Amino acid sequence: MSVSDSLQVGGGTAWSIDELRRGLTVKRLGGNFHYFAELDSTNTYARQLAENGAGEGEIVIAEAQTQGRGRLGRRWQSPPFANLYFSVILRPELPPAQAPQITLTAAVALAETVAWFIAQPAVIKWPNDILVHGKKLAGILTEASCDAERVHYVIVGIGVNLNYRVAAMPEEIRAQATSIAELTGKSLHRESFLRRLIQGLDRCYGELEEIGFAQLAPRWEAHFGLRGKRVRVELLDQIIVGRAMGIDKDGALLVEEEHGAIKRVIAGDVIPLES
Ligand code: BTN
Repeated sequence: MSVSDSLQVGGGTAWSIDELRRGLTVKRLGGNFHYFAELDSTNTYARQLAENGAGEGEIVIAEAQTQGRGRLGRRWQSPPFANLYFSVILRPELPPAQAPQITLTAAVALAETVAWFIAQPAVIKWPNDILVHGKKLAGILTEASCDAERVHYVIVGIGVNLNYRVAAMPEEIRAQATSIAELTGKSLHRESFLRRLIQGLDRCYGELEEIGFAQLAPRWEAHFGLRGKRVRVELLDQIIVGRAMGIDKDGALLVEEEHGAIKRVIAGDVIPLES
C-alpha cells in the first residue's frame, strides 16, 4: 500500500508518544515505548525484545503492521493512521498454569475501555475477542515463554479498530467487523483511547498479581456475552456443542454438553449458535 493510499484509508495523523505520555498514571506499564512507523508484527518485535532482556511493562507500538497476526494463524488487518496495534511485555510472578488468566485480565481492561468510549455494550467472546452488536472490534493475541516452574515473559498484543471505517475494510471482513468511529459516527483521538487502556491494563494486571483473578472474574463475567447460549467450540481434534456456562477460577471456558457433562475448554474457537 502506498502512503497516499494509506492516508485515504486512515485519514488521520501518526501517533504522538509525547501526547500519550502526558497525564499517563501507571505503576508497572509504559515505562518505555518503542514506536515504529511500520513493523511486521508488534508481538514479534516485543518477543525479540523480551528474549534480549527487556523489562516488564515495555510497550511496542506500530503505526502499521505488514504481518499483523491474530489467533489460530489468522491475519490481522493493520493499515496505518486508523487503528491501534501494540504489544506489552509482562514478566508476571504467576505459576505457568495461571498464565491464561493474563488474556482474560487484558480482556477486562479492553472491554471496560471500549465501553467507556462508545457508551454501548462491549461483549467479550471467550477468550479474547471484543464484539459490539455481534461485530468484531478488537482482539488480543497472548504469547508466553514458560518452563515447568515459571513464566519467563508474556507478550500481550492488542489490536483495536478505532478510526477504520467499514467502507475502507477489505471485502472479506466488512460484514463481521466494526470500529469505534463506525459505532459513534465520529473519529476518535487515538492517544486518549490508548492512555486509558494502558492505565486500565496497569490496574487490572496489578490486581491479578496482588490479589488474583477471583477479584477480576465478576468484571469479566459482566462483559461475557455467551452465558447460557448454545455454542460450538472447535478444538484441535474435536468439536463440542453445548451451553457456555462461564469460566472457572483459572479462566477456562465451561461448556455444558447436551447430556449434562461439563467440558473445560482451555484453547479453542467459540462460535455462537444463537444471538
Ligand atoms: C485475534 O483477534 O485473533 C487477535 C488479534 C491481535 C492483533 C494484535 S495487533 C497488535 C499485535 N500484533 C500482532 O501481530 N497481533 C496483535
